[in-house]
Parts: sequence; C-alpha cells; structure tokens
Amino acid sequence: MDIDHQASRPFSCNNLFFLLLLLSSNLLTLFISTTFYSPCSLKSQLQTATAAVAADPPPSEEEDSGTNNAPAVDLPSEFIAFTSPQELPLGFNKNFDSDQIFPPVGSPCTLFTDELRRFMSYKVNGSCPDDELLSQKLLLRGCEPLPRRRCRPASPKEYVEPYPLPDSLWTTPPDSSVVWTAYTCKNYSCLINRSRNQKGFDDCKDCFDLNGREKNRWASDGAKGSNLDFTIDEVLAVKKPGTIRIGLDIGGGVATFAVRMRERNITIVTTSMNLNGPFNNFIASRGVVPLYMSISQRLPFFDNTLDIVHSMHVLSNWIPTELLHFLIFDIYRVLRPGGLFWLDHFFCVGEQLEKVYAPLIESVGFEKVKWVVGRKLDRGPELNEMYLSALLQKPLKNSW
Ligand SMILES: *[C@@H]1O[C@H](CO)[C@@H](O)[C@H](O)[C@H]1NC(C)=O
Ligand SMILES: *[C@@H]1O[C@H](CO)[C@@H](O)[C@H](O)[C@H]1NC(C)=O
Ligand SMILES: *[C@@H]1O[C@H](CO)[C@@H](O)[C@H](O)[C@H]1NC(C)=O
Ligand SMILES: *[C@@H]1O[C@H](CO)[C@@H](O)[C@H](O)[C@H]1NC(C)=O
Repeated sequence: MDIDHQASRPFSCNNLFFLLLLLSSNLLTLFISTTFYSPCSLKSQLQTATAAVAADPPPSEEEDSGTNNAPAVDLPSEFIAFTSPQELPLGFNKNFDSDQIFPPVGSPCTLFTDELRRFMSYKVNGSCPDDELLSQKLLLRGCEPLPRRRCRPASPKEYVEPYPLPDSLWTTPPDSSVVWTAYTCKNYSCLINRSRNQKGFDDCKDCFDLNGREKNRWASDGAKGSNLDFTIDEVLAVKKPGTIRIGLDIGGGVATFAVRMRERNITIVTTSMNLNGPFNNFIASRGVVPLYMSISQRLPFFDNTLDIVHSMHVLSNWIPTELLHFLIFDIYRVLRPGGLFWLDHFFCVGEQLEKVYAPLIESVGFEKVKWVVGRKLDRGPELNEMYLSALLQKPLKNSW
C-alpha cells in the first residue's frame, strides 16, 4: 500500500469506510469496506506507534523472524522517528503551504519489514553496521530513497587522500580507499583481473581495468568496433561547439564517459549502483561525480536543464516496459530544448525492437539524429539479440 498517498489524504479512507457502512450492510460491501479500510488502519497504527515511540525512545535490537500480521506496529523506531511528520519550528511556511514536513522515503520501504528493521537497527549517535549489501538490496527493491540514519557509515581504517587531478582520472585508486565487505573481490588487483580469471557474470566485469577496453571507449582514435559505436567527438559535432556543457550518464559503470567528457571541459554526473564492486568509490576517486541512484527513481534535476543524457547497455529490455516509458519521458523532461539523448547499445530480442521499443521511444517526442540497429552477437546468433544505438534530440522549439 502506498503510505505517501495515505498520508496526503488522511481523511478520505475513513470517510469511504463510513460511507460504505452506511450504504449497505450486506456481506459483499462489508468485505469491500474492510479491504479499503486496511490501509487507513495501517496509517493509524503508524501514528499510534509514533506516539508510543515518542514516549519510549531506545530502539529495540531484537530480531523478529518475520511474522507480521500488523506490519505498521513492526516498523523500527528509528524509521518512525525519521518519517513522522515534523513541525516546522518557525510555524507555517508559505513555500511549503504547511507547518509540517513529512520526510520522504520510498513508499515500498514498509513492505520489507525484516530488511527495514535490520537497516534501521543501530546505536543512535554511534557507528552504523557495515551493511552495504542489505541497504542496496532494500533500495533496489524500491525503498528509495532509503531513510536517513543517525549513525556513522563504515569507512576505511587507513584512508589516504585521492590522487590529484588530472592523474586521478586514469589511475587505479589505492585499495585502502574502499570498504570491501560487500564484494567478492577484496582489492583492485582482483577487480582488474576478474574478466580473465573469474567465471560467471558480473555487471561491468572488465570495467575496472583502465588499460583494457575502458581505455578506448568512445574515443575517436580507438578501434571503432561497428557503426553502433558512436564516438564522443562525432556526437558533440552535431551541436555548436561549447553548447554541450552539462549532463548525466545513467548507469555509467566506472564513469569513463564522464572522464572523457571532463577532458573536453564538460561536466557529467554518473549514476551507478555498487553491484559486486565499489563503483561509486572508484568514480569519486577518479575525480568525477557519482550519484548513487537506481533507474527507478525520478531524476533529481529540474525540467529543461541538461545538455546531454547518455546511457549505455543499462536501458534495455530487462526493465519493465512501462517503467522504461516513464524513464524515457523523464529523460526528455530534464533535457533542455535542443538537448541530446544518446541511447548507446540498447538491447532487446528480435521483433521486440519493431513491435515494442521503437514505438515506445518514438512516442516521447525526440527528433532522430542517428538511429542505428545491429545484431548483438556476444552471446551467440541463435538468441537473435539486437542492439539499437540512437542519438535523439529534444526539439529546440515547441518541445512541450
Ligand atoms: C544522540 O545525540 C542527541 C543530540 O545530542 C541527543 O539528544 C541524544 O540523546 C543522543 N542519543 C543517544 C542514544 O545517545
Ligand atoms: C588481492 O586479493 C586476492 C584475493 O582476492 C589475493 O590473492 C591477493 O593477494 C590480494 N592482492 C593484494 C595486492 O592485496
Ligand atoms: C592480477 O594479474 C596480475 C598479472 O597478470 C598478477 O600479477 C596479480 O597477482 C593478479 N592479482 C590477483 C589479485 O589475482
Ligand atoms: C578546458 O578548459 C581549460 C581551462 O579553461 C582550457 O585551458 C582547455 O583548453 C580546455 N580544454 C578543452 C579541450 O577545451
């Protein structure tokens, strides 16, 4: 159930409940009204729990094995402390049109009571548990944003200052800059070697090797594998020099795209998860900005602001189709008129491209600057996989 939705309309459910009771007392209606009523009772339980916690502070550490007949009561006290409505100390605020703030978390957070309880169990003012894996799973399942916590995150014992720019852009950072608990590899040497030595799949398996494939990606002097591989310079040449200045790379691996753009004085923010590797630390160590955000969340940029959005491999047929439709509209939203969306190696299977994805992309309103379709053969031709690389432009005029 959608807690935010309930919170914003605290009376409607109760009204509905009483209305339904009034209308009829036959069994079917009673059943419906009970069903409708449950989210409201969740809300009121939450408020009861909040009141109880306010009177009774210390968080309970006990592990519950997962029976949750009354989920709201099970919510951890620090979660309730964070998400409860907070009175504004200076009273009514015209900008907020309210005298309260409801601190936000992803509405699905409360669906995962066990994980949420573990995540929110810590000593207030103390050290957080070393629980990156848990928090990432929670976030990827939809508890995004995660609730804030009042504890210090695990951090390396012997951290050293990063390499200075511009050396940092192409230098492997020291192992001591990372907390390795969450990953199979325990040092960068292992991550660099893993495409050769390690069996099985990992996202961006060969990305940490800055002298390998990473070195030539999008570079004009690099070996151009196929016409699906646009170079950065050919993309920038589409626009007047200097007019592409700021942008976003969605699911940008180790941020080599942002690094190459930085070398052209273009500022790119790179979203990445830490899927079996310290991607965010690595990106930051290189000296470009990592944004720890999944593909599910609304992009944290205002409408009509960015010059370019790039995404390679990540936006593909593993994403639920309707979510992808919302996502591409969100990209359109944050791009300024005349801004570029470089959809780099989108992949899907056979007819999906014609039947589903091309119409989906076309429905958003971009102009096509480049549109290249090719076979994806890395897992064998029998899978009939396809790639699409497209350069799309938000119309300069009348883009609304
Ligand atoms: C944590 O610090 C705050 C601010 O000083 C204080 O009010 C609170 O009692 C502390 N809580 C604990 C559990 O130490
Ligand atoms: C890196 O980790 C591997 C195991 O994953 C280990 O064998 C190796 O000795 C480590 N290398 C360094 C330099 O710490
Ligand atoms: C990675 O490979 C290099 C050279 O092939 C080797 O010297 C190094 O020990 C390997 N590191 C790990 C952690 O396996
Ligand atoms: C980037 O900016 C610096 C400082 O303004 C300038 O010296 C340099 O030539 C620029 N580089 C490129 C590739 O435009």
